[in-house]
Amino acid sequence: KNIILFASGGGSNAEQIMQYFAHKEHYAVVALFTNNPNAGVLDKAKKYGVPTVIFSKEELNEGKVLLKLRSFNPSIVVLAGFLWKFPSDIIAAYPGKVINIHPALLPKYGGKGMYGIHVHKAVLENKDAESGITIHFVNDNYDEGNVIYQHTVAVSDCLTPEDVAQRVLELEHEHFPRVIEELLKDL
Ligand code: GRF
Repeated sequence: KNIILFASGGGSNAEQIMQYFAHKEHYAVVALFTNNPNAGVLDKAKKYGVPTVIFSKEELNEGKVLLKLRSFNPSIVVLAGFLWKFPSDIIAAYPGKVINIHPALLPKYGGKGMYGIHVHKAVLENKDAESGITIHFVNDNYDEGNVIYQHTVAVSDCLTPEDVAQRVLELEHEHFPRVIEELLKDL
């Protein structure tokens, strides 16, 4: 079963996923797509021998990325730190097969602009006792697709947003690959 990753930045989640599936018999990460020619994740993909595709906003919105995607015959499309809104033609082409991870307990702290440290700042300012991760299906609205998996972590002892970010990122690394594998059993 073919896994396609989309990432825009450092790609620590993408790296965990490539590592997790590196020696699995029935699953493989077959390509990594990125909108960022300087994404740190490109080096990580090379390390795992995963082919990479760098694309522009025009190519994404003109359907060129969808064409390229089809050529890999994906069973699942995983957004792992992909910061642009995902185009509806790709979502429509792969119903129930495009997933994303969000570093908070959706529906709280979701939506356009709520990514990265902004999320953790808001959690801290609201003095929430816990935060966590949400893995969800992607639909045409930011962070609103059906929830697949959530996991919470206590953050009341965190002093800075970076503390919260670190704790949540560890959850992402711990759970995202396994949740993908479990989903693939049904796809
Ligand atoms: C993570 O916080 C993830 O929740 C969000 O973007 C960030 C990606 O981090 N979608 P990395 O690029 O995987 O390190």
